[in-house]
Amino acid sequence: MFEKIVTAAADPILGLTEAFVKDPRAEKINLGVGIYKDETGQTPILKSVKLAEQKLIDEEKSKSYLSIEGHKAYASAVQKLLFGADSEVVTSQRAITAQAPGGTGALRTAADFIKSHLTSDRIWVSNPTWANHGNVFNTAGLEVKQYAYYNAETRDLDFNAMLASLAEAEAGDVVLFHGCCHNPTGIDPTLEQWTTLAQLCANKKLLPLFDFAYQGFAIGVEEDAAGLRVFTEHCEELLVANSFSKNFGLYNERVGGLTLVAKNKDVAAAAFSQIKSGIRANYSNPPAHGAAIVAIILDDEVLRKQWIAEVAEMRVRIHEMRELFVVTLAEMGVTGDYSFITRQNGMFSFSGLTKEQVATLKDEHAVYIVGSGRISVAGMTKNNMQPLCKAIAAVL
Ligand code: LMR
Repeated sequence: MFEKIVTAAADPILGLTEAFVKDPRAEKINLGVGIYKDETGQTPILKSVKLAEQKLIDEEKSKSYLSIEGHKAYASAVQKLLFGADSEVVTSQRAITAQAPGGTGALRTAADFIKSHLTSDRIWVSNPTWANHGNVFNTAGLEVKQYAYYNAETRDLDFNAMLASLAEAEAGDVVLFHGCCHNPTGIDPTLEQWTTLAQLCANKKLLPLFDFAYQGFAIGVEEDAAGLRVFTEHCEELLVANSFSKNFGLYNERVGGLTLVAKNKDVAAAAFSQIKSGIRANYSNPPAHGAAIVAIILDDEVLRKQWIAEVAEMRVRIHEMRELFVVTLAEMGVTGDYSFITRQNGMFSFSGLTKEQVATLKDEHAVYIVGSGRISVAGMTKNNMQPLCKAIAAVL
């Protein structure tokens, strides 16, 4: 039966890591997948995470199943982080959160819910977007449409084109927004633009789905939620898929959440019961460890402060690498204005390198970046900057 199955194409992001691991060249550099590295090139476990983990080990009494929707204190902590502790969305209980196995798990759960229970199974995603979005949504049976987002000439958001594409969306359609640190461009709407988008969704009765995977990597943990919070003022219904892979460094613990906001507590409870049914049919209930760590940190004043400082440290280091990258490119004789790289938010730089240049970087210089030209700045260090920029200068 299996002999007729053809080999699947490698994943555009995780497939690169597989190829990188097999690459025997000592000087290889992996700037494909979005994983934070410190200045020594390691992906550290945050100190706040280690402390919370110790507390968990000391105090944990059982490994019994969590409920379908997961850890209760975690769900409450997630909502406060997303919407603000005193937000009406939280206090009115019209937001309900299911713990999910990573942001991807949350997106897939959302997609299954949309497909089975909403009037439209069409979802609009930005052009470009995270390479896995189309995969997740198509696999769940959704029709994926693109809205304009990036202007390659100005290297900025093409807001008028974005509005023009979304004007074609129909009532009930879902629109995916990146909460902050747009992946792959690093370009986010301004607060004014978020307000216009929220009003557009409310007027056209579109359902916003936020993918929020980088809270804290643009300006700050609270500041980065501004776009989402504007939406809650205009749209009475929305979905948020959040991830703690990056901001807690909990990549392999798979810690995320799917939050549903409805117009009141009762509507939310009924809709959420269907999300729970979907989860039960899919992975039954989530793993406990990572969510417990996050709940401990967010509910403890000292650990929370420490975590906020650690997120700031990661954010500042990435920004320093952006500046060093631009300076080093110039030192290597690369002409042109690359200052746009310092204005992008989050882990990635959308470099403008072509597919061919990306292939040459890999084949001839052992530098791995995503085919779209997306470079993970979070993987740059003072040590790999010179060989990296030398290789880029050579392919340009
Ligand atoms: C990325 O975009 O590199 C990360 O979100 C990791 C992934 O799963 O693709």
